[in-house]
Amino acid sequence: SRNVTQDEQGRLWVDGLDVVALAREFGTPAYVVDEDDFRSRAAAFRDSFAERFAAVSGGADVYYAGKAFLCSAVARWVLQEGLHLDVCSGGELAVAQHVGFPGDRIALHGNNKSVAELRQAMEYAVGRVVVDSLEEIDRLACVATELGVQAAVVVRVTVGVEAHTHEFIATAHEDQKFGFSLHGADGADSSPAMQAVARILEHGDCLRLRGLHSHIGSQIMDTDGFAVAAQRLIGLHEQIRRVHGIRLPELDLGGGFGIAHASGDSPLTPAELATELAAVVEREFAALGDVPRPRISVEPGRAIAGPSTLTLYEVGTVKEVSLEDGSVRTYVSVDGGMSDNIRPALYGADYTCVLANRSSGAGPMRARVVGRHCESGDILVRDTELPADLRAGDLLAVAATGAYCRSLSSQYNHTPRPPVVAVRDGQARVIVRRETIEDILALDVG
Ligand code: LLP
Repeated sequence: SRNVTQDEQGRLWVDGLDVVALAREFGTPAYVVDEDDFRSRAAAFRDSFAERFAAVSGGADVYYAGKAFLCSAVARWVLQEGLHLDVCSGGELAVAQHVGFPGDRIALHGNNKSVAELRQAMEYAVGRVVVDSLEEIDRLACVATELGVQAAVVVRVTVGVEAHTHEFIATAHEDQKFGFSLHGADGADSSPAMQAVARILEHGDCLRLRGLHSHIGSQIMDTDGFAVAAQRLIGLHEQIRRVHGIRLPELDLGGGFGIAHASGDSPLTPAELATELAAVVEREFAALGDVPRPRISVEPGRAIAGPSTLTLYEVGTVKEVSLEDGSVRTYVSVDGGMSDNIRPALYGADYTCVLANRSSGAGPMRARVVGRHCESGDILVRDTELPADLRAGDLLAVAATGAYCRSLSSQYNHTPRPPVVAVRDGQARVIVRRETIEDILALDVG
């Protein structure tokens, strides 16, 4: 993150605080979030998209995707920075409600929302529900009717893009669970997407069709896939105008903007993204001539939260293992692992780490940083170089762990989850406290 530096003694500092002091005060493992970095990225998305899209679509709304990382403090930061919020469960919505996040600035996602979640959203007057199946459309219509409200809905469209990312996080090719396809047995007018639109319009008294949505995947490094998605969404928008005579007011391009993990990664900045996407959308709109244009929205999660955070671990053991080819690999075990960051095990994600408490004159050794859990796949950094004199008690910092680490964390092996410590201007405060074994045992009632 932007406020991380290393001094001559090799100590890492986060916005004026030294991580050795942080580890002493809050323990390890700990997620340390640079609040200013998070807020700056949120603000950069807000301003760049507002500016670049002003002439294209009257501006653009930025929804922070709470699934990347959400807690009450983060929901407040998002609100204070003027963003909207994307939630995808009753639990995430409850966090938003807890901090008084205005309902009309919230979008509710999910491919299997329960009736209780739909009711919760309607009672809180959530600004849009992104619908994902015909059953859900009918279910939402019932809930809205029962409560005497009109629900604003957005249709999740499968735009058929093969995003260049891991299979588990690509979401717009045909053979996966999300969205309504654009391909119909009798041509495009009979597509699942058009069927969804027709069904929503049939429920016209309790549902209001507000727009179309696509999300092509996550950790995507270029805008080619978004260009195809924009083209297809705008095509569907036109088709709806032709068939039903209505112009929907909003198109959402989703999230998925990648961040740097390895040294060769070069992600686009929010400003570059806004510039490229605005150009793509402008080109598609321009082809339609002088007609009213829908407003654009995007939903970045990782690109805001990911780079803001590092995870601090303490080294527990250092073990040399001889490999078949005669070489040696050193296994460095730390006091966390796949329970606080499952991404290397689940997606083969690459992380980088550094020795964070001292400098070392020792040469490099080939190391693998592993966790403390009962699986050989419990790897945090698969292949790295660390100083050969690394020893128990040293601190390691793993970078860019702000997105999908805490939010995907578990209590595997009855491991209490680490705290989240926010640092700003040399001040640290716990925004999510460390779990305790008492927290876990409290669930055992039998
Ligand atoms: N909008 C929708 C509808 C989404 O499904 C997602 C992410 C986002 C926005 C935000 O995507 P982002 O900008 O954060 O990439 N656990 C995986 C990522 C799963 C993403 C799920 N949906 C990982 O750790 O890589």
